[in-house]
Amino acid sequence: MVVTMVFLGAIVAWAAPIVIAHRGASGYLPEHTLAAAAFAYAAGADFIEQDVVQSKDGVLVVCHDIHIDSTTDVAQRFPGRQRADGRYYAVDFTWPELRLLNVSERINVSTGRPAFPQRFPHNGASFRLSTMEEAILLVQGLNRSTGRNVGLYPEIKEPAWHAREGADPGRALLALLSRHGYASAADNVFVQCFEPVELKRLRHELKTPLKLVQLVETDGENGPALLTPEGLKEISTYAQGIGPHLSQIMSGVDADGKPKLTSVVENAHQVGLVVHPYTFRADALPPGVKTMPDLLEIFIGQAKVDGLFVDQPDGAVGFLRR
Ligand code: G3P
Ligand code: CA
Repeated sequence: MVVTMVFLGAIVAWAAPIVIAHRGASGYLPEHTLAAAAFAYAAGADFIEQDVVQSKDGVLVVCHDIHIDSTTDVAQRFPGRQRADGRYYAVDFTWPELRLLNVSERINVSTGRPAFPQRFPHNGASFRLSTMEEAILLVQGLNRSTGRNVGLYPEIKEPAWHAREGADPGRALLALLSRHGYASAADNVFVQCFEPVELKRLRHELKTPLKLVQLVETDGENGPALLTPEGLKEISTYAQGIGPHLSQIMSGVDADGKPKLTSVVENAHQVGLVVHPYTFRADALPPGVKTMPDLLEIFIGQAKVDGLFVDQPDGAVGFLRR
């Protein structure tokens, strides 16, 4: 898909909504593996998402959780290395140790069952964690060999928690991106985070010129208050976009099955913010929505979002091409 970026002061607009492959093509392959990223690239995604945590030796690792026991065999390979809470943390392992782990489809650690039972099976197939640098090199290499310009969409995971552990993934991410040529607002990367304090630090203290996206939780201090007109105005002083949960844009359906849309997209656009909601999953549709094309029509055709995080990027790419 050809994506045209237009800069209008603080406003960043695209000719068409962007498809962000959520944790790679995580609907088809174990999340955040290089295989899932390559699948997403081939499926036509505009951006590939990387959640980022830091290892004991300071390496940025692509992993959704600060814990590594939901998606790897760490408990079998490194018995006894868990903390008092029973969990295994990426920050307690060096990258040479982490690279030995086998990655599989996400499990619910409390039940031991797959989080998405119809997805890639636990069949012993071989997948590995990757570093953020490896993820960058994959996308840049494919951009060279295909002539496309697919972007990166890294999320700094739990920066306040990392700081208490003596780690600083935000600073390390900016340095890594800069080394690989992502150093201006025009470069094809969005940096996202749920914690406003971290995004403000990136913008004001670390002086990054990169595009930033404020993620929004469904409750708590990083939740709905950020989406009020005042909250959005404040976000527009340090970020170019927001990443709300999709329920914060479509709150449900009425008795006739018509979607109930909030004013979040309109209010965000008024202060120059793009809106990239999460997470669109063909196998976990919101209540009252029957098919993925129906969901996409609501968000793209009616709510007018600027992009979306999707586990099955091929479906969204096909929808937009049609
Ligand atoms: O970053 C957008 C979306 O991925 C946020 O949710 O928990 O999947 O990182 P999560
Ligand atoms: Ca994420």
